[in-house]
Amino acid sequence: MARFAVLASGSGSNFQAIAASRHESSLLVCDRKAAPVLERAAKLGVEALYVKYPGRERAEAEAEITAALEARGVELVILAGYMRLFTEGFVERWKGRMLNIHPALLPAWPGTDSIRRSFEAGDERFGITIHEVDRGMDTGPVVLQRSFRKEPGEPLESVEARVHALEHIWYPRIAAGFLDEIEGGRRA
Ligand code: GRF
Repeated sequence: MARFAVLASGSGSNFQAIAASRHESSLLVCDRKAAPVLERAAKLGVEALYVKYPGRERAEAEAEITAALEARGVELVILAGYMRLFTEGFVERWKGRMLNIHPALLPAWPGTDSIRRSFEAGDERFGITIHEVDRGMDTGPVVLQRSFRKEPGEPLESVEARVHALEHIWYPRIAAGFLDEIEGGRRA
C-alpha cells in the first residue's frame, strides 16, 4: 500500500478524517509541540514526529522531514493546516506528490482566516479547494473544488461548520484516489 504523511500545525480535524479512513501505516509531522493534532495522533495510534523550525534554516527542518518520510517509504505528503511555506527544494522533491486543502474557493481568499474574511465581505458562496502544492501560498493546480450557497441570515459559525464538513468528506477521498494511483503506477 502506498504510504502517506500528514503535515499539520493545529487542531488536526482533517488529519483525523484522513487517518481514520486509511489503514496503511501513516505518519504525522507537526511543527508545534502544543498542537492538539498530536493528541489526536496518539489516540489513533499514528506515529507522530515533531519537527523544530526556530533557530535553524528552514531547509534543515525540511531535510529532516524528507529523511523521515523516505525512511518510511512515504509517497504522498498531505498538508492539513500546516502553517509553513516550503523552500523550492522541498517543493521540487515532492512535486505531484503533495496536496493541500484550503477553506475557500481559490484563487479567492488565500492565506489565513479565509472563511471569516469572505463572510465579512458579504460573499454568498463558500467552499473548499484541494490542490497540488507549488512554491506559492495556496496556489498550485486545483484538484477539486466543492461549494455551497449560504442561507439568508446564516451565521458565520454555521458557514464554518459546513466548510469543515465538506473538507472532512472530500480530503480523505482525494487522498485515497492519489494513493491508489501511486500504488497502481498511474501517477508519474
Ligand atoms: C482547514 O480549514 C484547512 O482547510 C486549512 O487549515 C484548516 C485546518 O484545520 N488549511 P484542521 O487542523 O484540519 O482542523
